[in-house]
Amino acid sequence: MLHGYWFKRYGIDAVYELVDLLPDQLATFFEGYKRAGWVGGNVTVPHKLAVMSYAELIDDAAKAMGAVNTLFWNDGVLVGGNTDSMGFIGNLDERVPGWDREANRAVVIGAGGAARASVYGLMNRGLSVAVCNRTVDKAESLARHFGGAVSSHGLDELAMQMSQADLVVNTTSMGMVGQPPLDVDLSPLKSEAIVYDVVYVPLETKLLRAAQARGLRTVDGLGMLLHQGVEGFHRWFGKRPEVTGELRQLLTDDIRAKTPGA
Ligand code: ATR
Repeated sequence: MLHGYWFKRYGIDAVYELVDLLPDQLATFFEGYKRAGWVGGNVTVPHKLAVMSYAELIDDAAKAMGAVNTLFWNDGVLVGGNTDSMGFIGNLDERVPGWDREANRAVVIGAGGAARASVYGLMNRGLSVAVCNRTVDKAESLARHFGGAVSSHGLDELAMQMSQADLVVNTTSMGMVGQPPLDVDLSPLKSEAIVYDVVYVPLETKLLRAAQARGLRTVDGLGMLLHQGVEGFHRWFGKRPEVTGELRQLLTDDIRAKTPGA
């Protein structure tokens, strides 16, 4: 729906298709990939790591993330890239322009793939990041991977970390439809803090509603999806497509139609 909207808007004759592959079908798929005429593609679970061995070059973001989400060609070379952290930051830039002028510290809740993308994006903008996760070992290994600007903590330290933060990000699946809500006491946050939830089904999570009730600025997760799409489209067609209000509405309506109550 996302890329189809841009194909139509920019008059590009292309299709974005879903190819459902089992792990043992990847090798055969990639044998014919170039011949099949794909200009690129996205990769999702569980193949984000495995496709690394089929790409001829891995870009810096994918190396840092240890995962590929976008494939594209560069001078005939198949590149495995990762646009998730750019999507994460692009959304923040769009929703809260100038957010990083005063921001120095962020708290990231969670230590999975979405946390990696957030931490990498925030580090590249010069912030120090406290990763708070239920399983402290996972937060520690993420912090070790990214080095000095990233610290690791259990959820018992969340309130203390939040009291020093300019931005707090939920990267866990909590709050998503079918999952328990993320119950975090937002009272330790400064009144200028931003609350970002990468969950986008529902668009307005309990966390974001609580933040709005406190008068904090909020950022929802749909834009992260849209903006990682911008980066992919740019690599495939050489054009940076626009995230319009109409596009947001199209996806919002679709999410609401498919998930009553969202
Ligand atoms: P993704 O790649 O989408 O980020 P993931 O790798 O499965 O997903 O990571 C999910 C994150 O949500 C993890 O940080 C997980 O915490 P653990 O590392 O302790 O498993 C966190 N998470 C999921 N359910 C949770 C819950 N009920 N309470 C606290 N954290 C939870």
